[in-house]
Amino acid sequence: MTQPPSQSTSALSQDELKNLVGQAALSYVAPGEIVGVGTGSTVNKFIDALASMKHLIKGAVSSSEASTLRLKALGIPVFDANEVRELSVYIDGADEIDGHGNMIKGGGAALTREKIVAALANQFICIADESKLVDTLGRYPLPVEIIPMAAQRITQQFAALGGRAQVRLKGDQPLVTDNGQILLDVSGLLITDPLAFETQVSQWPGVVTVGVFAFQRAQICLLGTAQGVKTLTF
Ligand code: A5P
Repeated sequence: MTQPPSQSTSALSQDELKNLVGQAALSYVAPGEIVGVGTGSTVNKFIDALASMKHLIKGAVSSSEASTLRLKALGIPVFDANEVRELSVYIDGADEIDGHGNMIKGGGAALTREKIVAALANQFICIADESKLVDTLGRYPLPVEIIPMAAQRITQQFAALGGRAQVRLKGDQPLVTDNGQILLDVSGLLITDPLAFETQVSQWPGVVTVGVFAFQRAQICLLGTAQGVKTLTF
């Protein structure tokens, strides 16, 4: 369902659109609760906005060291995921989202913890600007967190599906995730059945987390567009 835009934003930059959706997500945060918080530049806008109601919430469960640092710097208490039985909402960005709420995530290297926190939540609220909305997942190189000794075999397995996997680098060294593992970015895939794809790749030995979020898909997407924030429900 698409709601009518609340205001014209034709002159807004992508950064300002991220700001709008970050602010809009506050209406999904219930007083007295612990909120699940994702990672990335759009979520940073949400975290900054969340500071305005920090005295109304218990705190947050964070999906990365980067988000934890930002939350704590703003005085928002951060709980370990093991301290929490369930969350009402998890609020996070996406690298791509399709018309069913399936997503590619992990551009910020936090996909494993993002999937863990999302799994604790009853509702995934995706916040994104409209450049992230696609018909079929796969234009964005798919992030996959892996155990380093499996890199060559997993690269071959993706090649058999038509994908080209490259180890993500930081400088001239493999980027090391918050979990001490490495990432592959896989281009050339067209993911027509996200649930089947996630199921298949998750079973490959050495895969920690595949960046397709179909089991933990979004129920709502707050999409920043030139016409305002559109609410997509799936
Ligand atoms: C982090 O690992 C990702 O899953 C982010 O949610 C995703 O990359 C979106 O980030 P931006 O909001 O910075 O585009």
